[in-house]
Amino acid sequence: MATIPSMMQAIAVVNLGKDSKLVIEQRPLPQPGPEQLLIKVAAAGINRADLMQRRGAYPPPEGESDILGLEVAGVVIAAGPQHKSWLGKAVFGLVPGGGYAEYALLHAGHAMVVPAGYSMAEVAATAEVFLTAYQLLSSIGNSQPGQHVLIHAGASGVGTAAVQLAKAIGCKVAVTTSSDDKLELCQKLGADILINYKDVAFEQELSKHWPDGVDIILDPVAGDYIRREIPLLKMDGKIVIYAMMAGRDVPDLDMAPLFKRRGQIICSTLRNRTNSYKTRLTQAFYQAYGQALAQRQIQPVLQQQFHWHQAEQAHQLMASNSTKGKLVLTF
Ligand SMILES: NC(=O)c1ccc[n+]([C@@H]2O[C@H](COP(=O)([O-])OP(=O)(O)OC[C@H]3O[C@@H](n4cnc5c(N)ncnc54)[C@H](OP(=O)(O)O)[C@@H]3O)[C@@H](O)[C@H]2O)c1
Repeated sequence: MATIPSMMQAIAVVNLGKDSKLVIEQRPLPQPGPEQLLIKVAAAGINRADLMQRRGAYPPPEGESDILGLEVAGVVIAAGPQHKSWLGKAVFGLVPGGGYAEYALLHAGHAMVVPAGYSMAEVAATAEVFLTAYQLLSSIGNSQPGQHVLIHAGASGVGTAAVQLAKAIGCKVAVTTSSDDKLELCQKLGADILINYKDVAFEQELSKHWPDGVDIILDPVAGDYIRREIPLLKMDGKIVIYAMMAGRDVPDLDMAPLFKRRGQIICSTLRNRTNSYKTRLTQAFYQAYGQALAQRQIQPVLQQQFHWHQAEQAHQLMASNSTKGKLVLTF
């Protein structure tokens, strides 16, 4: 195995805030702790959280790397004493930060083996969105075959993973997005009901298709959407909020329709979960869907790869809201 350098290049954020810039910096190589793997990064997924972090709106959890990047794929080049069996293996998984760098630390419990036939860029586009979708639909939503699931931003990174998992569970799936070409992608992924929210009010359109209501709504939009979603719920239905892209305030919220339906509004995060939770989540996902992933019954939607020196262009593309699926940096 090649010698391990003491320094690496990484993307750092200067001027945290609305005028932030990405620059390449020399950083010391991170040293793996007893439970960690040191990865020579081949690809790193881009996430909206990275855009928020550089604006200063989403600081890394205490003690974690300030380098952007929540998921990596690469080869294990060093490992804690109990985890030497990982050495030389191609892996991917969630990191709490530090992905936009030539080397990164991955908790051994969060590592997944790269399935045969997958590129590093593809697997770098997999962990964050599929683990989020799995958490939202299964751990939190407890979604069951035959249930009605509404997925907002269906063509987004998380949305494309959620549509595929919900269909794999056997749910009926409705999606909302802003354009017909995004809806076309959702249809290819298996969505049953396609709603362009620019053309119609999603709640009116959905009520025509599902007059008996919705069991689970996956919502990264929040704001006014929450008030509009509540009347769609079946008895004991759930609205699972996982971002607030339209804002934190819910204007004119009337709790009575939620109460009448014994509805639940649940907020979910992933990054600030404990390592043991993420280990359980990763292993449960891989056990349930590793084979489906390997056989491409489910797979990441990778829109575009960027050389890591082009991270700024990739961020601008994501911020434009025009992307379908994932963007990835390659090293
Ligand atoms: N809590 C968690 O565990 C967790 C985990 C992963 C991600 N997230 C968060 O979830 C959100 C989605 O992540 P992602 O990676 O799937 O994002 P993404 O791939 O960048 O897609 C976001 C899409 O959301 C839609 N959108 C943006 N602003 C909107 C608005 N104001 N109203 C309605 N739709 C809007 C746009 O699609 P349309 O053109 O269809 O409108 C946009 O393309 C991000 O905020 C991310 O930080 C949370």
